Amino acid sequence: MNTALAYPTATPASSATTPPAFDVARIRADFPILKLRVVGKPLVYLDNAASSQMPQPVIDRLLRYQTTEHANIHRAVHYLSETATAAYEAARVKLQRFINAREAREVIFTSGTTDSINLVMHGWGRKFIKAGDEIILTVLEHHSNIVPWQMLALEKGASLRVVPINDAGELLLDEYQALFNERTRLVCVGHVSNALGSVNPVKEMIAFAHARGVPVLVDGAQAAPHLTLDVQDLDCDFYAFSGHKLCGPTGIGVLYGRATLLEAMQPFRGGGDMIHTVTFEKTTYASIPNKFEAGTPPIAAAVGLGAAVDYILSIGMEAIATHEHDLLCYATEQLSALPGVRLLGTARDKAAVLSFAVQGVHPHDVGTLLNTEGVAVRTGHHCAQPLMARLGVVATSRASFAFYNTRSDVDALVAGIGSLQKVFA
Ligand code: ALA
Repeated sequence: MNTALAYPTATPASSATTPPAFDVARIRADFPILKLRVVGKPLVYLDNAASSQMPQPVIDRLLRYQTTEHANIHRAVHYLSETATAAYEAARVKLQRFINAREAREVIFTSGTTDSINLVMHGWGRKFIKAGDEIILTVLEHHSNIVPWQMLALEKGASLRVVPINDAGELLLDEYQALFNERTRLVCVGHVSNALGSVNPVKEMIAFAHARGVPVLVDGAQAAPHLTLDVQDLDCDFYAFSGHKLCGPTGIGVLYGRATLLEAMQPFRGGGDMIHTVTFEKTTYASIPNKFEAGTPPIAAAVGLGAAVDYILSIGMEAIATHEHDLLCYATEQLSALPGVRLLGTARDKAAVLSFAVQGVHPHDVGTLLNTEGVAVRTGHHCAQPLMARLGVVATSRASFAFYNTRSDVDALVAGIGSLQKVFA
């Protein structure tokens, strides 16, 4: 690797200059895809929990990188390799600032949340989890924070313990605390539920686990686009999220790990750029973060993600949260007033995600008919089948909002539900 590039520290994102006043029309103008008409109707994009859209500054940054900066990184001294390396490592520092990590080397670029969690499972779990150990999860988890742990438990003879929820979709903290015993080795919890929008009290959960010497992994895929993140304040041990839900490209994500834990982990993938020395007898590994970034990484995507967090911070997380909270309140009020519509997930602390059921209409028909009005929602089990089982449904329809959505988008959703109810009446 290019040793000239140290991993500088950065000031927290919160110290950035004051963003301009929130202007949703101006923000929407930054997103070319929002001007699309689909099926002859203006696009109403309410599937942001699955993937968000990309603003022009991020598209421009990707174009600039590909047209003037690209080569492989950490491997050569020529101009383009130096330029690409600098852009890639600058992106790491932007992500460090975004989550307020202590050091840039605690930010590992992965292909996304799933990859980040699998990295912890292989690198930490396979080394430290033993037969008889217990891993605490919650019933709200996405499959990406269940299946890797189930695979590990099967391999090691460990077991999973599951925190239940109340009917509003809130974790039962007494039950969480009661699950701890001398065999508890790890807690894995989503910060925000992708299916219900519940914001979990992860800071309190981490403090409780740490008081018992248990590390905590937080799946932040649905939190990173909506909440101010501060991994030092949360005191989490691992934090995972994806770029494509954060106005960045697909194929890029982040694993934050506490440096001491990352250093203790074994690498997951072997290959180029993750070694210190190699002989046929023995390999010694590079320091973090390179130890976990074998092979040519998604350089352009990392640079694009850096631009995406710049863009998001230029709007401001507080302004985003305020606007999305207004959308959540308005949408909740409007959908609750519709006869035959039932909301699933009414946690007091909630992100702008509305799962709902329309009486007598299968969620897939809801999605199909809303699509004929240009309204994009996700329907299905949302990769959370254990949660669906707990709720007593096989699927829901889900509208998930981003900061570029408007009250008019909510109105279009409500009108669309009204129309489909007439079709099924
Ligand atoms: N995890 C993404 C969702 O909730 C794909 O839709």
